[in-house]
Amino acid sequence: MKKDLLSIYELETADYDIIWKKAARLKKLLKEGKEHASLKGKTLGMIFDKSSTRTRISFEVGMYQLGGIALFLNSRDTQIGRGEIISDSARMMSRYLNGIMIRTFAQDSVEEFARCASIPVINGLTDLLHPCQILSDLFTIKEKKGSYDKLKITYIGDGNNVANTWIEAAAKLPIELALACPEGYDPDKQIMARGTKEAKEGITLYRDPLEAAKNADVLYTDVWASMGQESEQEERKKIFKNYQINKRILKEAKKDVMVMHCLPAHRGEEISSDVIDGPQSVVIDQAENRLHVQKAILEILL
Ligand code: CP
Ligand code: NVA
Repeated sequence: MKKDLLSIYELETADYDIIWKKAARLKKLLKEGKEHASLKGKTLGMIFDKSSTRTRISFEVGMYQLGGIALFLNSRDTQIGRGEIISDSARMMSRYLNGIMIRTFAQDSVEEFARCASIPVINGLTDLLHPCQILSDLFTIKEKKGSYDKLKITYIGDGNNVANTWIEAAAKLPIELALACPEGYDPDKQIMARGTKEAKEGITLYRDPLEAAKNADVLYTDVWASMGQESEQEERKKIFKNYQINKRILKEAKKDVMVMHCLPAHRGEEISSDVIDGPQSVVIDQAENRLHVQKAILEILL
């Protein structure tokens, strides 16, 4: 039976270990300059309803490195943008492609696409979730800290797709998660309720970012206004002004705290320039790992 990656909540504990092992091996092979064409002749369709730099490049380059190809399908230039329905698109594309990656607005659309398609569907970001991002972030943490077990990850900012996915991760893995969001900008209620019930090491939502940052091993943030919320940008700058990762916040965390951001970043908003460009920041390594982890996902699913 085909497998999809729509959320990380649906993964089994054993799946994580398979992904980390494969990603580490693929990364090593690439660094050694060794060819590894495990997906020779395979094709990935990539449907984008929203902008992307990292996701597009890493999936496209990843497929190329594995011996396959990736097709960039901007929804505006396809019949999807002119109203062709999901079930027709999904069933028809399943006859051409070996897998589909979708970045869109509604999580329901990706889920419907996966139900109708007979090939694996990968969620490349929705308004609700960003599973490929957090999977590769977990890999980065493991790589840099040896393990993520019992580590305290503090997410400061908007309760968005990235925050929701961290909650799903904390429901499944032994990480302690602290979130600091301004009132009215909390993570998804259902994901939070399920997460707090199932979390192995606890999930706590704070209003005070300083309190949330106490003893953190990882400080994580993301933009205050996500794609689709551009009209709220100015208002959000006022509401979120105290939710910036900066030197003051770093003082509350552990000495060896690692600073992460999924990128793109807005320096001077959710993170100060000195911190994102400082010694504790791993954002570029973090972005690189999208490639290795997604290649592992592609190998497993395709
Ligand atoms: N972090 C991330 O998904 O980046 P892009 O929007 O550039 O793909
Ligand atoms: N929360 C951001 C993540 C971008 C990678 C957005 O959805 O725009």
